[in-house]
Amino acid sequence: MQIISLSSENAHLIQQAGQLLVDAFREHWPDAWPTLEEGLKEVHEMLESERICRAAVDEQGNLLGIIGGIPGYDGHVWELHPLAVQPSMQVQGIGRALVEDFEEQVRLKGGLTITLGSDDEDSMTSLANVNLYENLWEKIRDIRNLKHHPFEFYQKMGYIITGIVPDANGIGKPDILMAKRV
Ligand SMILES: CC(C)(COP(=O)(O)OP(=O)(O)OC[C@H]1O[C@@H](n2cnc3c(N)ncnc32)[C@H](O)[C@@H]1OP(=O)(O)O)[C@@H](O)C(=O)NCCC(=O)NCCS
Repeated sequence: MQIISLSSENAHLIQQAGQLLVDAFREHWPDAWPTLEEGLKEVHEMLESERICRAAVDEQGNLLGIIGGIPGYDGHVWELHPLAVQPSMQVQGIGRALVEDFEEQVRLKGGLTITLGSDDEDSMTSLANVNLYENLWEKIRDIRNLKHHPFEFYQKMGYIITGIVPDANGIGKPDILMAKRV
């Protein structure tokens, strides 16, 4: 496996990246990128010149995963968005490698902080379907992972929960905000 910058000339990988967004988010975030067309639209946004867009590819040149980054706060802060690994290739270290590579890219550009939002639209954590306006920080401290929500993956990568957007995706469906200093 190698991790490369995705460029607008690589039509083959762009096509695979559009489909990957559809496939990787289908189960728990069906409204994210429901069609190949929507996936490809996101990939073209990921390729905008000020952003970071990196791809993990195998020896045959097939796409294993992608990660994108959007600069903010004069480049001090980068939002990690999106991240996806081929469903059949998950839990083999590809996500970790992509995040580590992304952190290096952000460092090289002088960024200090990476932020991300990880939605819970499918009752995947103990923060879904509860009143987050009561004892919020206790609920964040005691968060439980009920259905393999990726917040735990990010915690393993050194990210902490910095906040919540209540009802971000409808009542009882929050966005979980996380950050790491790079
Ligand atoms: C989340 C995702 C990117 C992780 O990539 P991956 O290649 O499967 O993860 P890795 O194999 O690098 O895992 C690194 C560690 O995190 C753990 N981990 C990975 N996904 C996890 C999850 N959903 N819940 C809990 N732990 C998880 C792994 O077990 C591994 O732990 P270890 O270091 O103790 O062995 C991938 O599962 C994915 O694409 N999911 C669907 C889309 C998605 O959720 N994207 C992120 C939205 S914010």
